This record gives sequence, C-alpha cells and structure tokens, in this order.
Amino acid sequence: MVSEYCRVGEGMLDKSIIAANICDQKIKIDLFKTIGSTSEYLKGVSPGAMPHICIAEQQTKGQGRLGRSWHSPFAQNIYLSCRYAFQKDLSQLAGLSLAVAIAVIDALKSFCSLEKLMVKWPNDIICQDKKLGGILIDVQAEANGACSAIIGVGINVNMLEDERHQITQDWVSFRKILGEQVDRNKICISLINHLLSCLEQFANNGFHRFIDAWANLDYLVGREVALKTPEGEMIGTAQGIDGLGNLLLELSGGAVRAFSSGDTSIIKNA
Ligand code: BTN
Repeated sequence: MVSEYCRVGEGMLDKSIIAANICDQKIKIDLFKTIGSTSEYLKGVSPGAMPHICIAEQQTKGQGRLGRSWHSPFAQNIYLSCRYAFQKDLSQLAGLSLAVAIAVIDALKSFCSLEKLMVKWPNDIICQDKKLGGILIDVQAEANGACSAIIGVGINVNMLEDERHQITQDWVSFRKILGEQVDRNKICISLINHLLSCLEQFANNGFHRFIDAWANLDYLVGREVALKTPEGEMIGTAQGIDGLGNLLLELSGGAVRAFSSGDTSIIKNA
C-alpha cells in the first residue's frame, strides 16, 4: 500500500522545471530540501540588482507575522521568498504587502479556479473563510537611499489533515478545497511570474495602481472588525483602505481612523 507520505513525495519541486517557465530569465533561484526559513536565508545573501528567489520543501523555523511560527512540513506546501531591490526609500514601500497579496491571488486564480479568493488586511489569503496562505515582508535599507524587500509567501497546497493540530489559525488547503493533489511546481511558476510583474509595476508606479484591484478582493470591508494594535484592541467597521494601504476603521462615534499595522479578526454576530 502506498502511504499518504509517499504520494505526497512523488511530486517534488524541480528547479529546472520552474526556471524554464519563468518569464523573466534574469533572476536567481535557490531550491532547498530543508532550510530554517527561506526569508532568513535571503536576508543573509549579499544585495544584488537581480531578483533572488528561494524555495524550500521544508522549513524548520518558518516565520509568520507578528512573531508567530509558520508550520512548514516537508513536500506538502509552498514556502517561497523573493529578495527584490528597489531604487526607493523605505518610506515609499507603503502598500507593498497589499500589492503582493493581490499578485498572489492573481497567481492562484490563473492556475486553477478556486472558490472566491479574498485578502484579509493586510495580506492573509482567504478561501472559504479560512486561511489558505500568508505573506511576510521584511525591508532592509541599502546604500544611496535604495532598499531591498524580502517577501515571503506560504501557501497551503497539499497539507495533510494530521498536521491540523500544529496550526492555531483556521486553515484550508488546495487539496481540501479541490479534493485532489495539486502540482506545486505549477503553482510556484505562476507565483513567481505574477510576483515579479507586480514588483516591477510597484517599482515603476507605486501602490496607487493596485487600489481598485484591492477593493474587489477586500474580505473585511463593511464588517465589524477587531484590530489588535500596540495601543490595544480597536473595534470598528472596516471601510476599505486609504492611498497608502492603511486600514480604515469607523470607530464607535463615527470617526474614521487609519491603521498601518495590526492583526484583524471579524467579530461574528450572534
Ligand atoms: C503569516 O503569518 O501569515 C505570514 C506567513 C509567511 C510564511 C512564509 S513561508 C516562506 C517565508 N519564509 C518564512 O519563514 N516565512 C515566509
């Protein structure tokens, strides 16, 4: 009998297949069987003009937002990071994490027709009201006013049910939704192509070209939301985003306030 583990292992990531299908050939790709964290690895490489992609079959110290860990079992999901140099000051990267979330959704949609995919501000990828993927962005200032972004993307693809106890958030995977194994090489290719095109657009035009696309994908808009911030929990109705990608919340009393960071959850009505 073929065990579930073996079936998962059949479709390993393949650097030559991925590299051959990337539109922009001027990139560097590293593929590891196991690594601490693809993003931590890229933080340590020397900065270069060429985008640098790191993918792994497994992460032993996968990092999530707000200091959480990202469960990263072997050969089941996608753990992909991209180091990208911008000729911009750090302050000009506002909205980047939202633009990347839009690119990830476009990549997943173009790959197969999932039920409606949405983004929970700032960048959780949501399907069937559960988390399908997450994005973590770190930025580093470089010389001469330039900077590099290290963009980490984790997508739950073929994750096995017995991994569920390791994850605190309500999650879903491609495999659960579609009822079948999915080719992770194809998802990687689509992700890299959409990500590079998004980053080029962001480098040239900034965030404003992404605002309309965001409005169509906004999971929170019109809902009662709790936002955990360093100054405490804020409760309000989500009113979309402003031109910098900040979350707009209408607080009790009617004032609308913009928030640049925090952890959001929907307040479910009884
Ligand atoms: C989140 O908490 O929603 C963000 C999760 C980001 C996970 C990815 S997996 C690839 C990259 N490497 C990491 O250690 N984290 C990111």
